[in-house]
Amino acid sequence: MSPKNPKRRGERLRERSRPLRRRLGRRPPQGILLKSPEEIAMLRQAGGLVAECFARLAASIAPGLRLIDLDAEVTELILARGAEPLYKGYRGNPPDHPPFPGVICASVNQEICHGIPDARVLEAGDIVGIDIGLRYQGWCGDACVTFPVGAVSEAASRLMRVAEEAMYRGIAAAQPGNRLYDIGEAVQVHAEAAGYSVVRDWGGHGLGRSLHEPPSVPHTGDRENDLVLREGMVFTVEPMINAGAADCLLTEDGWTVVTEDGQLSAQFEHTLAVTADGPLILSPWHLAMGRTAG
Ligand code: CO
Repeated sequence: MSPKNPKRRGERLRERSRPLRRRLGRRPPQGILLKSPEEIAMLRQAGGLVAECFARLAASIAPGLRLIDLDAEVTELILARGAEPLYKGYRGNPPDHPPFPGVICASVNQEICHGIPDARVLEAGDIVGIDIGLRYQGWCGDACVTFPVGAVSEAASRLMRVAEEAMYRGIAAAQPGNRLYDIGEAVQVHAEAAGYSVVRDWGGHGLGRSLHEPPSVPHTGDRENDLVLREGMVFTVEPMINAGAADCLLTEDGWTVVTEDGQLSAQFEHTLAVTADGPLILSPWHLAMGRTAG
């Protein structure tokens, strides 16, 4: 317990000798790996590839297409760019969990997330959330967009619009000096004001060289594991917004998560960096798809 304990002193020395930590002067909280501007630029390249995949999907998603066709299209593009898909073969917890079979997650209608891109055919009126994770030159990119298939109901388009807005409300709160809580609260307030609910079972996550790093990012105002946001933090904001209740069920395939009440769910996700100038979006699918942020 003594501060002169040689082992503890050694640990401190190693920590201090890490160049990023020396540059930033202080140890980041809760094991979070702060990213340098150079590292953020690399993450932006990975996120740019994810955005390119979404631009491609936006042009091709249509009634009659199979989910597996979308998976093939994204796989081809990721490999052509020299990147590595990260979801295929991914194992959840426990370790004997079945490996995820797709390169993309494709979650249709009442599916909240982690839907399997199988031979199901998209129909006009469906909404489909596509989640893409990849690694490019050692750095990860991760984002999700929910697309309408053909003409969709007013209820479905309102849900998608509010879910996307809620994500941007959360991102806007990712200012240095704000708290993680502020992000979740902003998402929750916006979604609930529209009469929707926010899924609590999955949150955003830090990412860097690994797809999943601390912190975990709640999409509701949650004081547990709250922390102050600092420059160099990189994480996702990826709220799943349900038209009905927030409750979810895991289906028998071991992956697909659905709403318990069978109502629609929509998800949007960006990866962002906290910078001195505010949040910097690293997965700019909105630009690639000709949309505006917020
Ligand atoms: Co993610």
